[in-house]
Amino acid sequence: MNVTTHVRTLDDVREDLGDCRRCHLHGTRNNLVFGDGDPHAALVFVGEAPGEQEDIQGRPFVGRAGQLLTDIIKAMNLTRTQVYICNILKCRPPGNRNPNPDEIALCEPFLIQQLEAIRPKVICALGTFAAKTLLKTETPISKLRGRFHMYQGIPLMPTFHPAYLLRNPAEKKQVWQDVKMIMEHL
Ligand code: URA
Repeated sequence: MNVTTHVRTLDDVREDLGDCRRCHLHGTRNNLVFGDGDPHAALVFVGEAPGEQEDIQGRPFVGRAGQLLTDIIKAMNLTRTQVYICNILKCRPPGNRNPNPDEIALCEPFLIQQLEAIRPKVICALGTFAAKTLLKTETPISKLRGRFHMYQGIPLMPTFHPAYLLRNPAEKKQVWQDVKMIMEHL
């Protein structure tokens, strides 16, 4: 018997998501922000949700926090095209408010499928929402960061969100420590 199994790709996941109207954020978004980068990346960054610039351009991390993330990636001797960048929520919460649990519940299955399709060697969770959502914990990011946790058999490093670093530049040192541990693992 000839059994063919279909490995789901990022394109399949994007197609399933379609012109998503599963939660009410579709009513206020300009663009859905699926993710960007190498579909076979060894390293995936997961942020919180699109902000204003991301919503306008349809790409993740292209505003001020995005510039800082791009600098962090460069400091790792990588480029944005060599990694994959996405978010917990694919649509911008109005005024950049925090994601609501119902929005996370509806959107998370697509992130899970993105990570299944990519199967990276390491995941970097940027900020509280990404870390708490992926690790199913209420522990604050300050306690989670600095060591690897496991997500579906994949080492996951939580670290501070670049937007937090813009407000608290002294914490960049800690992020650099986390990033160095990721580099050693890659
Ligand atoms: N902050 C995020 O968490 N994600 C983005 O894409 C941009 C800013």
